[in-house]
Formats: sequence, structure tokens, C-alpha cells
Amino acid sequence: MLRCYHILLIFLPLTLLCPRPIFSLPDLFTGRRIDSMAASIQSDVVIREAVKDVWTFSCPFDLKGVPIGARSTAIKLTDGSLWVLASTPLTQDTKSKLAELGDVRYIVSPARYHHFYLKEFKDEYPNAKLIGVKDLNDVKRLEGWQLDEVFDGSNPDEQYGFESEIGHCYFSGSKMHDVAFYHKASKTVFGGDLLFNLPCNEQYLKSDISPHIPIITSMLQPETLFCRLFIWLTEGDYRAMARDARRVADWDFDRFIPCHGDVIESGAKQLWKSTYRRYF
Ligand SMILES: [Fe+2]
Repeated sequence: MLRCYHILLIFLPLTLLCPRPIFSLPDLFTGRRIDSMAASIQSDVVIREAVKDVWTFSCPFDLKGVPIGARSTAIKLTDGSLWVLASTPLTQDTKSKLAELGDVRYIVSPARYHHFYLKEFKDEYPNAKLIGVKDLNDVKRLEGWQLDEVFDGSNPDEQYGFESEIGHCYFSGSKMHDVAFYHKASKTVFGGDLLFNLPCNEQYLKSDISPHIPIITSMLQPETLFCRLFIWLTEGDYRAMARDARRVADWDFDRFIPCHGDVIESGAKQLWKSTYRRYF
């Protein structure tokens, strides 16, 4: 069970190292104050085709002084339409690239706290199906709008329409309510807060700000003690976490595209298994 001293143990050292306080417990577990962090995101988007038919939209994002970066991803499906993991602002550059690539058919959120830009994506692409975690829908309903469909873990084999090309795994045992996605053709897995890979060099490529903070940057990487501690602290149900961590490990992938940090171009499956070794 998550205790206050766990939070202190993990976040106090970081707070001491950071130019500004990072975040508070309410930030993490209610999401209320996290919403205000959207203001710190910038619009210097770096757009590239990471691998055939997979486009990334990377930009700076700092969590109260810690540069962790943000990234959206668009996958061109075989019918020419687009599946978009939306986690960055819908800038003019982003809109132009998406228009060039195809019609947006799906907009997905990969985690409980990745919702800042969902509404602007949905407003721009009203015919696209907006899908996110159930917990997020409860919040959005209060704001007067809601998701079209939800990931809620009640049926791991739930079909949303893109499964022939993109697999999904909702981590019902995580307090972060993460969802992992798997693009079969490119052997790539995507995640919101499942795996950090700092520094976020690509996301700060057009920024004057350095993405490096001594010590902290090296802590937020796969396999580190800090990352494994973070996974443990945000674990709500060990058995569900083990089931889902293994399910991802069963996918045939080599690349991992995180929302926070640089793309892991190869060897990602081994890094996944090592970071989530608690469940194997
Ligand atoms: Fe995140």
C-alpha cells in the first residue's frame, strides 16, 4: 500500500535537486493541479517518421522544472486512415502533417494524466473515435464532454476497431491507468508513463533549454532503481500488473516510443523485461 513516507522517500531527493518543486501528491493522484502544467508546454514540435508509417510529434514539456518532454504519435493504417496517440498541442504544423498523412480515425490517450489536448483533437476531428481510460472519462464527463469509448480492463479482448494492426493492453493494476499499444507491422510499443527514457533530447531539439538535469535525468531511464521504485509505488494490484507486464513482454517488439524521453530504437523488449523484472 502506498504510504506517505514512500512518497517522501522517492520525491524529496528530487525536489532538493530541482530548480523548482516538482509536484505534490495531489498533483499525481488527483490530476487537478497537473492540468495547470499544460501551460508549460511549448509549441516547438519536431516531426519525423520514426519508422515506416509511424510519425512522432515531439515537443518540450517540463514538469515544474524537470524537462521530461511530450510526444504524440500518428500511425498510418493500411486503409490510409490515421490512429493518433494525442499527447501534444494540435499546432498548425501538427495539423498540416496529419492532413498530409490521412484522415484521423482514432484519437487515443495512453494514460490517466495524458488528457490535456484530447478535446482540441476531438473538436478538430469530430468523426474520429476518442478512446481513453475509464477513470479519465469520469473527469471529462464532469467537464461537460466525454470519451466515445473507454479502456477499463473488464474485457482485455475488447475490440475498438484497430486490433488487426495495433494491439492494446490496459494496466488495470496501475494507479497511473496506463495503456500500452503495439504496432505489429513496425514491432513498436507505445506508452504514456509506463517507461521514461530521459534525456528528452529530441523533444528539446528546437528549444534553447537544456533537457539535462544532473542526476535526475539519469534516474528517469529504463532499468534504474528509481524507475522500478516508481512502478512499485504506483502499483495497485500486483497480480494484474504481472499479467499485463507479461502480456507486453509477449509482444514481438524491438522499439519503444515513450511520451517522455527519447525513442528507444532497439532492444526495447529486453529493457522492458528488466525494468518490470518484479513481475517476471
Ligand atoms: Fe506522462
